[in-house]
Amino acid sequence: MDPQLPDLTGTVALVTGAGGGIGGGVAARFAAAGAAVVVHHRTSAARAAAVVADIVDRGGHAVAAQGDVADPEECAAVVGVAVERFGRLDAVVAAAGVQPVADLAGMSPDEWQRVVDTNLTGSFTTVQAAVPVMSDGGSITLTASVEGSRPARGHAHYSASKAGMIMFARSAALEYGGRGIRVNTVSPGLVDRDGLEDDWPSGVASWRRQAPLARLGTASEVGDACVFLASPMARWITGHDLVVDGGMSAVPAW
Ligand SMILES: NC(=O)c1ccc[n+]([C@@H]2O[C@H](COP(=O)([O-])OP(=O)(O)OC[C@H]3O[C@@H](n4cnc5c(N)ncnc54)[C@H](OP(=O)(O)O)[C@@H]3O)[C@@H](O)[C@H]2O)c1
Repeated sequence: MDPQLPDLTGTVALVTGAGGGIGGGVAARFAAAGAAVVVHHRTSAARAAAVVADIVDRGGHAVAAQGDVADPEECAAVVGVAVERFGRLDAVVAAAGVQPVADLAGMSPDEWQRVVDTNLTGSFTTVQAAVPVMSDGGSITLTASVEGSRPARGHAHYSASKAGMIMFARSAALEYGGRGIRVNTVSPGLVDRDGLEDDWPSGVASWRRQAPLARLGTASEVGDACVFLASPMARWITGHDLVVDGGMSAVPAW
């Protein structure tokens, strides 16, 4: 347990895409706050197993669950793991997503559709599957992006999907508030991962040069924002987009 985090002991959290970089970090922070965690993955079984093992080694509770978030039946099965294994579901963080790069001029309809199906439709199916089992209310946080409000070249499909997620979360907040379910987005800026600087040296350098806090973020820092949103400290926050970007969104465009 990390005493700096709100105490989520007794709660159950589902993190989708937890075999990935941000999702894995989010799952670890929920476990550090005392929550039992369902570690979702689609193809990264080994990485999800490592996230589970790390949580259990530290004395926490976690289980892996596999599925495609764009498929409603598979989403329902993933949510079912929370109930079967831990008896309830209190918090969901949707970190499953894809972020391919393609110039608009050459973008195929299939490329467009895959991004929208995974990021936007996957958010819809995740929320629809989760809400019926969140019988005591709770918190759903979708991982959007700063690109949901600021476009980037090669990311027309991605930016559009992230903007859609932000508005979808606000719509869901409107409809589910009466059930005690809060729905928010986090919008991370550039988050570090192994190999990023080698893959994209110019982007990383430019980010460091321009961001007020002069560095990339970490998956743990996104996780802490998600833990906050799921905690009683955020009990009057819903329909909100929490930007977690080291201040990049505050940089003037001129
Ligand atoms: N990295 C950043 O700087 C950044 C910044 C802002 C926002 N974000 C957003 O944060 C989220 C996580 O990003 P990340 O960097 O951690 O990416 P990542 O390492 O690629 O992880 C994303 C995970 O999503 C899962 N996924 C993809 N399609 C899926 C599907 N149809 N069904 C179920 N799971 C699926 C993948 O699972 P499997 O590997 O198991 O197949 C993958 O591990 C994404 O939504 C991304 O857009 C990232």
